[in-house]
Amino acid sequence: MIKNQTLHDASQAQRLLEKQRKARFYPAFHLAPPTGWMNDPNGLAYCDGRYHVFYQHHPYDEHWGPMHWGHMTSHDLVHWQHQPIALVPGDAFDRDGCFSGCAVNDNGVLTLIYTGHVWLQGVGNDGAIRQVQCIATSEDGLHFTKHGVIVTPPDGIMHFRDPKVWKQNGRWFMVVGARDANDRGQVLLYSGTSLFQWRLEGVLAKADRWLGYMWECPDFFPLGDKYLLMFSPQGMTPEGYRYRNRFQSGYILGRWQPDHPFTLEQHFQELDSGHDFYAPQSFVTADGRRLLFGWMDMWESERPTQADGWAGCLTLPRELSLDAQGRVRMMPARELQALRREAHTLPAFSLKNQRRRLGISALQAEIHMTWDIQKSQAERFGIEIAVSDDRRYVTRFYVDTQSRRLVLDRSQSGLGVGGYRSVTLPDGDTLDLRIFIDRSSVEVFVNQGETCLTSRIYPPTEGRGIALYAENGEAYCQTFTHWQMASIYPEP
Ligand code: FRU
Repeated sequence: MIKNQTLHDASQAQRLLEKQRKARFYPAFHLAPPTGWMNDPNGLAYCDGRYHVFYQHHPYDEHWGPMHWGHMTSHDLVHWQHQPIALVPGDAFDRDGCFSGCAVNDNGVLTLIYTGHVWLQGVGNDGAIRQVQCIATSEDGLHFTKHGVIVTPPDGIMHFRDPKVWKQNGRWFMVVGARDANDRGQVLLYSGTSLFQWRLEGVLAKADRWLGYMWECPDFFPLGDKYLLMFSPQGMTPEGYRYRNRFQSGYILGRWQPDHPFTLEQHFQELDSGHDFYAPQSFVTADGRRLLFGWMDMWESERPTQADGWAGCLTLPRELSLDAQGRVRMMPARELQALRREAHTLPAFSLKNQRRRLGISALQAEIHMTWDIQKSQAERFGIEIAVSDDRRYVTRFYVDTQSRRLVLDRSQSGLGVGGYRSVTLPDGDTLDLRIFIDRSSVEVFVNQGETCLTSRIYPPTEGRGIALYAENGEAYCQTFTHWQMASIYPEP
């Protein structure tokens, strides 16, 4: 059983701190903790008519600490409600943290499978830890009973976490992220006759020299006619424009069926090319689509919201698909269209050595626009997001025609952040962009999800404007629509 006293303490701390939370950067349409700290999305599941999102949570303050599981639910993937904290650490097997994991609907019983974490030689000493996989169940989908350990690590493995479980042809399977004795990341595969009885099948995939020392948060599922192994490797070194974040998140594609090896067909690809995307986890919607949420943040980055009493939020829910070229695409879930309010549309126009400021706000907005790439010869052209009146603050998303790159530049994006991320300009005559701007984030979906760039930004919230511009030449904007976005949270 959860120790009621501790759950009570954690909830009380949450309620007290929530009152002190400042609003300026708190998202309107992204999931964030009511207060305190959030990292990975956990336990994403549809069960009994509700979507569940659990998350790594520290309710006592806005820094990472002994991990609890926070909880939110939704009936439509659009409107969300905070629920009581679901897991509190403190038993022998999860003394120092209920680390990441998943949820499954086991004949109507919402079941959480997570990593119990214990520091053996002092808090923060990563060289001496114990990690085991644990289980908890709930009758009502809100209150959970822990049942202890279901899987212990194989010999020689200490870093062993983030179980993801699914059922296939009546059998349970589980993938777990691990670091082997030679400091290479790997994913272990287990099979189970029940959620309490597991057997190690073997190593599903492992790192070669460059793919990192630890693979966190594995997820393994069919997409189109392939299997996708999604994971978050730690320890990759930057290579040109790629792998620039502290840690990466991406996937390898291949073929698999139970009792056979996973045969690789495509090497590691990053899922998102922005600054802030980590530890994604997928789930299946009521109508069978494969969606994911990621943590819209990054380890070791500046977090100006900590001054406001909270930290961390999730990306929008994104639908995954495999296109005809065998590429994974990621698009905002179609349900999000329900958040669109007043629309503002511009007829087609061109800009020549010019900046056009639009009389619309970028505090919580969606923009859908297309550029005519073939006709646009300006050296640089793009959109300025969240520009302050004095132009001291601006986040730019632009095409660099000379280098043929698409750039998300946050060198003037406000408190604590800097730098830019860029991807190769995709082929094609038109560039289609869907841009979601919330109070401290921007997510850009390029050409129906061929590429995504996600970054946190912290400019002042007053007077955030939007402008379009073309430098040294002409650029053609074919379509432009802007919507104010409603909030996903209940009215206070
Ligand atoms: C990923 C991660 C997981 C771990 C959790 C701890 O961001 O490091 O591997 O379970 O966060 O909060």
